[in-house]
Parts: sequence; C-alpha cells; structure tokens
Amino acid sequence: MTDLDSYLASFDAEPGYLDWAAFGPLSPAVRSEAQADTELLGTGRRSGIQLVAEHTREARELVAELLGAAADQVVLQPSTTDGLTQAVYGLAGGLMLNRGEFPSLTVAATRAADALGSVQLQWVEPADGAMTPDVVRRALTDDTRAVAVSLVDFRSGYRADLTALREVIGDRLLIVDAIQGFGMVEADYGAADVVCGHGYKWLRAGRGTGFAWFGERALERIAPVLSGFRGVGDELPVDTVPAPAASAQAFTVSGPDPLAAARLATALREVAAAGVANIESVLAARASDVMFFADRYGVPVVTPRDPERRAGIVTLAPEPRDAAPLAASLANHGLTVTARASRIRVSPHVGTGADTMRLFGDALAAVASARVW
Ligand SMILES: Cc1ncc(COP(=O)(O)O)c(C=O)c1O
Repeated sequence: MTDLDSYLASFDAEPGYLDWAAFGPLSPAVRSEAQADTELLGTGRRSGIQLVAEHTREARELVAELLGAAADQVVLQPSTTDGLTQAVYGLAGGLMLNRGEFPSLTVAATRAADALGSVQLQWVEPADGAMTPDVVRRALTDDTRAVAVSLVDFRSGYRADLTALREVIGDRLLIVDAIQGFGMVEADYGAADVVCGHGYKWLRAGRGTGFAWFGERALERIAPVLSGFRGVGDELPVDTVPAPAASAQAFTVSGPDPLAAARLATALREVAAAGVANIESVLAARASDVMFFADRYGVPVVTPRDPERRAGIVTLAPEPRDAAPLAASLANHGLTVTARASRIRVSPHVGTGADTMRLFGDALAAVASARVW
C-alpha cells in the first residue's frame, strides 16, 4: 500500500458526508494520538508532560515544511481568525479586502480600523466574488499597503492565484487565509507574507489547531500589537516587560495547547506522507464528480471548472424554484452539505467514496424528475 493509499483508506466517516469545508471528521490517527496524549497528561510524570509539550515544536516544523518556510516563522494559534487578527491589527496604511470574504477578515479589519485608526480599509466587491489578479490590479491605489485574500473562497470555491497576485501587488503585503486549501492543494506560499490556517476542516485535526506564518517582510512591517507574555520568547518575563520577540513568536498571546498541537502534528504527518500534489489530484477528481452530476441534472455550478482555480468546494446555484427541493432531497438521501441562501456548498474529500457520490446523484435525479419543464 502506498502512503496515498493508506491516507485514502483512513477515511472512515459515515457515507453521505459532503461538508468538509465546514468541519472535518477527525482521522483515526488523530483520534488515537489525542487519547494517548490525554492519558500521558494524566500521569503527573514530568517526562510524560514534556513528551506531550514536544508536539508544539513538531507541529510548527510540519506547518513550515508544507509551507516551504522556516519553523521559527510559524506560530501556533487557537484558530485562523486569531492569526489573521494578529496580522491585521499590526498593519498601517491601506488594506484591500473583499467585502464578501469570510468574516474572520472583514470583522477583524473593521475592528482594527475602528480601534486604532492606523488601517484604512479598501473594500472591493467583485461581481462574482473572486479576487482575481485583474480585480486587485484595478483596485490598487498608492495608499494600498496590504491585500488580504482567501486561498479558497468559502462560498464559491474559487482558488486564488497567489503567484499572479504577487506580480500585481509588487512589494505590498499579501495576507492569506488558507484554511480552505492548506495541505489539500499546492500553493505558492512564498508569494505571500502571512498565511493563516486551522486543522479542523480538511486536515481532520479538530479545533484549536490553528497556525500562522509570518515571512520576513511581514516581520519587518507588521507590529505585534496583540502580543502577550508568550510573545517575548521562552523566558517568563517577570518584574520586567521586555519587547516582543523579533520572530513570529511575537504574534501570540498565551501558551499553545499541546494536545491540540499533537492532533495537528499527527494530521500534518499524514498529509506530508501522502503528498500534497497527490492529494490535490484526487481532490480535483472528487470535485469533478460533483460537477458531473450537477451538469447531468441541470444544476448550475458557480465554482470555476479549471482545476487550478478550485480545490474541494463545489457550489451549486440552483434555480430559485429548485433550491429548497434540492436541499430537502440531499437531506432525505442522508447527505450533509451546507445550504446558505439559495446556494448549496458541496465539499467532498479525497476519501469520499462511490457510495456517497451515488447518493448525491440520486438526490439530484429525484429533483430533476419532479421538475415541470
Ligand atoms: C475562509 C474561512 N476563513 C476562516 C474561517 C474560520 O476559521 P477559524 O474557525 O479557524 O477562525 C472559515 C470557517 O469556515 C473559513 O471558511
């Protein structure tokens, strides 16, 4: 069995689960690691406590490996939003972002602008919601100092082209919310300055497994405004308040959760062994399967067809009369998806089996057959 085969075989969620963009059922390896570490932390043995604490370093190293970055530029976070908030509060000047971004960015940016006045928000509202290089180029001004985007848009599934965005923005900062694609698709993270993510969706690591990477330019230009006592380094700063660390460590408040780090490290080891490029090609095939059934039963798809511009999210935009019957049919066929407004977000993973896809096809067929043409 290859590492990819064992990765594919490790998906043991019940059939019908097509909501990996919302929450990723934990992998068997993550579940057993969590149990073992919990037991170790119950012994009161210093060696056991240290063994579990070691997972923090491992997780940072594995994130760095997948990013192609140095481990000291990676800092664990409680969530994606925590990492993005650290970055956004420390900015000065114009920050360009999409009005339709996931609220992690829009809310943090608005709060930072209101509280500190040092960030000026430059909202863009692309017609189809996609932060393409053209959209960004047209919206840039001399005051733009940073651009924030999602690697994969949570609504449409559009995958940003980081390399092209870098070409367009010159040496301005590029801040990336990578939660919907990290470890699942290859991305030019070297083109970014800050990358934030979280392991509770596609990585199958559960919540609390966030991380953030701050590259050289980010470390020079982003102030660690929200830095707490753990942001000064390893020494406990008593009777004195030293400056924040010069590394990414500055962008943290308190200590990381080693149990969460253990889950993240285990999940990342599985991904690294299977290979991100291999995962990407299987994921592209699963997303194509979803598109195949949507096309067959006449349900419009808003996600780009080009595999390079999508990852695991496929968003259906049924005719208004079909939206409610389609959502009901999916639920009746035992399928879990996200239905928001009149759109239905379907997110398979590489381990999504033929049984689930068959149920999906049946659910769409049932609505199509009831349609009055
Ligand atoms: C694009 C995007 N960013 C951020 C989040 C929230 O992430 P977290 O819970 O790690 O803060 C989500 C959750 O769905 C998301 O889709």
